[in-house]
Amino acid sequence: MAAAIGIIGGSGLYEIEGFEKSEERRVETPYGEPSDALVGGMLGGRQVWFLPRHGRGHRILPHEINHRANLWALRSLDVRFLICVTAVGSLREAYAPRDVVLPDQYFDRTSRREHHTFFGKGIAGHVSFGDPVSEGMRQILRDAAIAEGATVHDRGTYVNMDGPAFSTRAESEANRQLGFDVIGMTNLPEAKLAREAEIASATLAMVTDYDCWKIEEDAVSAESVMGHLKANVALAKRVLAKAVPAVPEEPEWPEHQSLDGAIMTPREFWPES
Ligand code: ADE
Repeated sequence: MAAAIGIIGGSGLYEIEGFEKSEERRVETPYGEPSDALVGGMLGGRQVWFLPRHGRGHRILPHEINHRANLWALRSLDVRFLICVTAVGSLREAYAPRDVVLPDQYFDRTSRREHHTFFGKGIAGHVSFGDPVSEGMRQILRDAAIAEGATVHDRGTYVNMDGPAFSTRAESEANRQLGFDVIGMTNLPEAKLAREAEIASATLAMVTDYDCWKIEEDAVSAESVMGHLKANVALAKRVLAKAVPAVPEEPEWPEHQSLDGAIMTPREFWPES
């Protein structure tokens, strides 16, 4: 059977339409509850599982998201390909609100790092993360976004801050000087955990604002973000519908064997479970 495709929805994207044989699953995980019930069904001939990372109704702050439960739940439903949709602030003049960015790098400014790995408690593991994004998935998203008429920025560095408050101007300027392209509060832990779970993952980052560095713009505010968010969500749905049928059936990419190259505690030293 073809591997399932996961979709993690971000701000504004709490459901997707068009599932055949739609069902809802509440999944229990060793890490507790995922952000919400997963909604699954057939879409474009493929089994898809959708999960809104902030929960339906947007109830969960970035630092409250149980990323381990989310990724565990997806993998337990045979997800081996993952599309993350996420709202981002732009740190570049050329990346305008409503543009699509397909990051190929991340910079980690998060804390809570014990929540961003499945390893620990007696099993020390280190996966390679030099190329943190599945290039195959990235290209599928890029081609779908171009086909849907989006303004697409192919590649970019996503800096992940903790939030929940947006950046100060000093932080925003520092992020720009360091060469980062977009900023968000949620996506990097998903990429890390997907790699550990041998899931090929890429991100459709959709610009909602210029953060607060662009002084001729209003600093990031609810009103400006909401209008762009709505337009981005409509575009995301079209891009997803185009991307899903292009995902291969078999999990045969390097990301699907990421644990083969990991440095890990030898099995004879693993704790009894
Ligand atoms: N998500 C959307 N816009 C953002 C911004 N300016 N900073 C952090 N996360 C964001």
